[in-house]
Amino acid sequence: MKLALKGPVPGLQPQFFFGNLLQTGILSGKPLFQVWSAFQQKYGDVFQWYFGQQRVLLFNRIEHAQYILGNRQLYDLSVLTEKTFGLLFPRSLLAIKGSMWKRHARVMLPMLKKAKIVPYLQTIVDCIDNLIQKWRDESQNHLYTNIVNDAQDSLLNVIGIIAFDYDLKNSTMVHAFNDVISVSTTLILLGGLPEFMGRLYLRFNSKYQRGLQLLRQHINDIIKQEQQRIKNNGTENRRKNLVSLLVSSLVEDNEILNDDSKQGLTRDELFDEVFLSVLGGFETSATTISWFIYYMSKYPDIQQRIKQELRSKNITQYTVLTSELVDELVYVDCVMKELFRFAPVQPGVGRSAQEDDEIDGIKIKRGDVVLIGTHNIHHDKRVWSLDPDKFIPERFLQEDKTYPPYAMLLFGAGHRACAGQDLARFELKLIIVRLMQFVTFIDGGKDNSGGYLQRITVIPKHLAVYMKFDTT
Ligand code: HEM
Repeated sequence: MKLALKGPVPGLQPQFFFGNLLQTGILSGKPLFQVWSAFQQKYGDVFQWYFGQQRVLLFNRIEHAQYILGNRQLYDLSVLTEKTFGLLFPRSLLAIKGSMWKRHARVMLPMLKKAKIVPYLQTIVDCIDNLIQKWRDESQNHLYTNIVNDAQDSLLNVIGIIAFDYDLKNSTMVHAFNDVISVSTTLILLGGLPEFMGRLYLRFNSKYQRGLQLLRQHINDIIKQEQQRIKNNGTENRRKNLVSLLVSSLVEDNEILNDDSKQGLTRDELFDEVFLSVLGGFETSATTISWFIYYMSKYPDIQQRIKQELRSKNITQYTVLTSELVDELVYVDCVMKELFRFAPVQPGVGRSAQEDDEIDGIKIKRGDVVLIGTHNIHHDKRVWSLDPDKFIPERFLQEDKTYPPYAMLLFGAGHRACAGQDLARFELKLIIVRLMQFVTFIDGGKDNSGGYLQRITVIPKHLAVYMKFDTT
């Protein structure tokens, strides 16, 4: 079947099978956000885009975001997300909707709130201390080029411990994890391809199947231990990892099947939710930290201002960090917000129309996929008072302090917004503060030219910094 633009909305004539992916360079590594930014300049605030054969309508104004993301009756989970993530974790929040989503959300959302994560503060600090020690152990005046991988290893370790008390650094499970994650990454990148290909790819990938089996076994072991512990001691001395906390919500498959209003998760659902939390939680956060390190090396004044704020609160290398102390750091909050606005981690969020609709005079048919170009909104001069193409954390103390709702969309918005955003914000702030207690990142010159590499998220392509280990 020949592919062609549909209706009056502008866009680039798609090619057979590849849609717009080949002709715009996405398949050779060009990041989506760059192409969509160029499309907005060429075609305006609404245009068509083809992920392979899948047509989507891209909306790029803050008013569009407010209308679509704020309207849960008309716009819900996008079929693109459902298809891709449904292959990996079909019984998780990211792949379900309706009453099943509500049942899962009731269990999962409270588990990822800040209060549940604060007890892990010291664990997160320890993981970052290990990373700093690893960097210290490398030779002096050395140009560090492995930052993205280092950040990923550390963040995987953090989420592994939060999810199931497993120190992935020292475990045989780390291979299982890496195998499952690398195969999942490839699958997500192949997102626009037909579903049956994805299914076959996973089915016959022995690395993936082996890894998955190991993870399943491990999670089942934790569940059994926790059930035994509860039987012996009640809920006293219970473990605080995510799997253990979820044990009390376990129900049998047939209970759910027979009663739609039943609360809780089945064993398979619990596994999928934990797997999603690990995969969803580590890559996005590691990418954000990598961009932080890159920007700090490029903006030494901002880095010094963070350190100055730590000093003003008497935070030295000997200070034991607490949640209250970290909460007091206002300038670090501004840097985080600017990082969330500026770094091109994710280019957009999607929904599928549940009914026919019309937006800005454009007819939407039930089932159409609509995407919000979040990166375009983050850089829209109509939204931001200070130049949105500049990295200026102070904007959040000044002209852009009261930015409009739906202007910051790194975590999406509305009822399908990121379930892990409290966890992510808490761990990222803590990591930034810990790094700034000990390290100064210095521009590594021509090898530190930035650039973009599209993976599940967009990571810095050329990141190379020197590090100075501070003495006070
Ligand atoms: C910097 C880190 C992160 C970023 C940038 C991020 C981004 C996102 C985005 C853009 C969405 C889709 C939102 C929408 O459609 O409106 C999402 C959904 C989701 N995220 Fe995150 N995320 C991050 C960290 C995490 C963490 C740490 C977890 C869990 C431990 C997590 C779990 C989820 C889940 C479960 C969903 C699906 C929610 C639903 O559809 O109901 N994320 N995330």
